Amino acid sequence: MAHENVGGASLNTPPAIALLENAMQDSPIRIPDLRERKRRGEKIAVLTAYDATMARLLDRAGVDVLLVGDSLGMVVLGYDTTLPVTLDEMIHHTRAVARGTQRALVVADMPFLTYQIDPAEAVRNAGRLLKDGGAAAVKLEGGRPVVDVVKRLVDLGIPVMGHLGLLPQSVHQMGGFVRQATRPDEADALLADAAALEEAGAFAIVLEAVPADVARATTAHVAIPTIGIGAGPDCDGQVLVSYDMLGLFDRFVPPFVKQYAHLAETVVTAGREYVEDVRAGRYPKAAQEIAPTRTP
Ligand code: KIV
Repeated sequence: MAHENVGGASLNTPPAIALLENAMQDSPIRIPDLRERKRRGEKIAVLTAYDATMARLLDRAGVDVLLVGDSLGMVVLGYDTTLPVTLDEMIHHTRAVARGTQRALVVADMPFLTYQIDPAEAVRNAGRLLKDGGAAAVKLEGGRPVVDVVKRLVDLGIPVMGHLGLLPQSVHQMGGFVRQATRPDEADALLADAAALEEAGAFAIVLEAVPADVARATTAHVAIPTIGIGAGPDCDGQVLVSYDMLGLFDRFVPPFVKQYAHLAETVVTAGREYVEDVRAGRYPKAAQEIAPTRTP
């Protein structure tokens, strides 16, 4: 028997199940959903966000996870690296993203030196990202050197996303933003780090700037989802810095980035037209002068 098509469900799906499926498509993403997505072979779409408006737009677009990355330091705050970003800055921006988000899972990066010193301090700082920032989970960089911290956080109910490969907080040690795990011994170490993070309770792992075959092997090696960035097509999900994929960050474009828009040009063109209009007396018109102010 053919059933009425309810939203996106197929014609042959019974209406009650179709309603449930559609409701689930809109229901908030929870930590266990991500592992389930990997099990079912459904890819996970992750983007960074740093403010409420962008979070609202990307959430509306159906992004599964909004990462308040410490890339904030480079694409929003104008630093050359992520190292200067503070916990208070991360909380401030995470709170804004959480306010703009209804469905996506909000994950906040733990900035440099907020989790490396001792697990008690890491708990206090991660706790603030959840309690004051409204994040559902935190992300931190590194493998075996941070598993004690990951385990402590997870034991206390703070979900942790790991991050392996290119670790931007170790940019000086790595000699720049360079590809990692290119040698067999480094690839083996990455696999061991991924297994250690899984064992410690991490719910997902970002793999940044590693060869596609290393990412593929790591993805097959762990039951938790891998989220790739510059790591080829075989991870369980992909993440990009939103300012890169929107063509908004104009200082450089990482080679693996696909630009889905060119907003930097749009902003400059709009700004230039505004300047010309103001200088020429074309804006505002008399009627616009008395237009009502912004309403929600
Ligand atoms: O800070 C960030 O945006 C990140 C992504 C690049 C994964 O860590």
